[in-house]
Amino acid sequence: MSLFRTKPVEQSIRDTEEPEHRLRKDLSGLDLTVFGIGVIIGTGIFVLTGRVARDYAGPAVGVSFVVAAIVCGLAALCYAEFASTVPVAGSAYTFSFATLGELPAWIIGWDLMLEMALASAVVAVGWSGYFASLMASLGAPLPPELAGEDAAFNIPAVVLVLLLTAILVAGIKLSSRFNLVIVIIKVAVVLLVIVAGLFFVKAQNYTPFIPEPRQLPPGSGLQAPLIQVLFGVTPVAFGVFGIFSAAAIVFFAYIGFDIVATAAEETRDPQRDLPVGIIGSLVVCTLLYVAVSLVVVGMMPYDTLNPDAPLAEAFRAVGQPWLASVISLGAIFGLITVTMILILGQSRVFFAMSRDNLLPESLARVSPRFGTPARATVIIGVVVALLAGLIPLSALAELVNIGTLFAFVVVSAGVLILRRTRPDLPRAFRTPLVPLVPVLSILACLYLMLNLPVETWLRFLAWMVLGMAVYFLYGHRHSRMNRPTPQTEPPLPTG
Ligand code: ALA
Repeated sequence: MSLFRTKPVEQSIRDTEEPEHRLRKDLSGLDLTVFGIGVIIGTGIFVLTGRVARDYAGPAVGVSFVVAAIVCGLAALCYAEFASTVPVAGSAYTFSFATLGELPAWIIGWDLMLEMALASAVVAVGWSGYFASLMASLGAPLPPELAGEDAAFNIPAVVLVLLLTAILVAGIKLSSRFNLVIVIIKVAVVLLVIVAGLFFVKAQNYTPFIPEPRQLPPGSGLQAPLIQVLFGVTPVAFGVFGIFSAAAIVFFAYIGFDIVATAAEETRDPQRDLPVGIIGSLVVCTLLYVAVSLVVVGMMPYDTLNPDAPLAEAFRAVGQPWLASVISLGAIFGLITVTMILILGQSRVFFAMSRDNLLPESLARVSPRFGTPARATVIIGVVVALLAGLIPLSALAELVNIGTLFAFVVVSAGVLILRRTRPDLPRAFRTPLVPLVPVLSILACLYLMLNLPVETWLRFLAWMVLGMAVYFLYGHRHSRMNRPTPQTEPPLPTG
């Protein structure tokens, strides 16, 4: 049964006070919200909007963004309760250790690497593509073998990841200031798209708002969605079902609000500030996303949108190339913080797992100079840099979705479990309508997972099998839970 031993919430909180493992508490609710926005707004809005409007949802793409936001909102309400009850680094990993036990917690920690380390490498590679095209438009093209998707070694992506790692090591407050500057630029560009775009909206582009449904050829082999293989449901484009298919794809655009919870230990008043950061960043991004998508489909007939750079190209198409350039520049800036905060989140999960000795304990040492888990951060940074430098990653983007959705399912289930096992714990934020909200969150996330291709499921399972091997060879044997719990009272002196 030691596989399912849980770590009491009180012990998790006590561990955060140990001098060699104590992180500096520098962040406010506003910092967290800005962190959330920094990591959420990225490839999703700059790229996916056009692709799903053209192929799945038509002018109703804004509705798909609302559907995806509802799924994320349900999960966010569960994250907010957990984060305010267990304000400890590690997010879903720590929450599962408190509720489901050591092995499930390990599985989630391992799973989160798919969300964070893999996603930061995917986004860094995407960024290098934008960067290469910017250099080309400035008349200084980079050689294709050194930048972009097909590069043998993607130098811009590697340099970006290493620089961001250095900032993260140097301090959480510095990272948060850097993030703030970039978020201001990024949000300004998104607002520019909305306001400037309104002048080019034509009412006829909104009709029909929901185009006639069209049956797509069923996916074949490993590319078929799991739901098709299991239940024979074939994908549909447009119509009401098309809106849902599109929601499963634009889900990616919202990934990141949960990463706010990984910074729990660095927050001054976590009970109050974490729910603000998680829910606040999600609300801001939802409003921006729905507005951007409505404007963009109003600017051009949906079937003519550009699948790679829809926002910029929509402005080029209406004769505003300078606005197109400003938007591309905004995307270049914007993706920098997405990459950075994903590395931040990953390093904090790694840190929490090492502090529990499921990974080598030395990785959990906090640098006395910077107050950050410097070793864990550098190791993650180097691994992400190598991944981004060497592997063409776009095919793996769906693994990020499945990894994230799985964590959402576990956190939502965890809220139900902790309400039963520890009703006494103080909960600064309580998920409303329990059990309805967590149950709906679980069902909605499972539905989106079923829509992912069989191939993604197989890769996900392979990653999990590898994780189990590491756990049984290392983590289980070294776990801090093997040690007797330290006595709270020192023994009375004898003699
Ligand atoms: N939500 C992030 C993005 O869209 C991952 O890039």
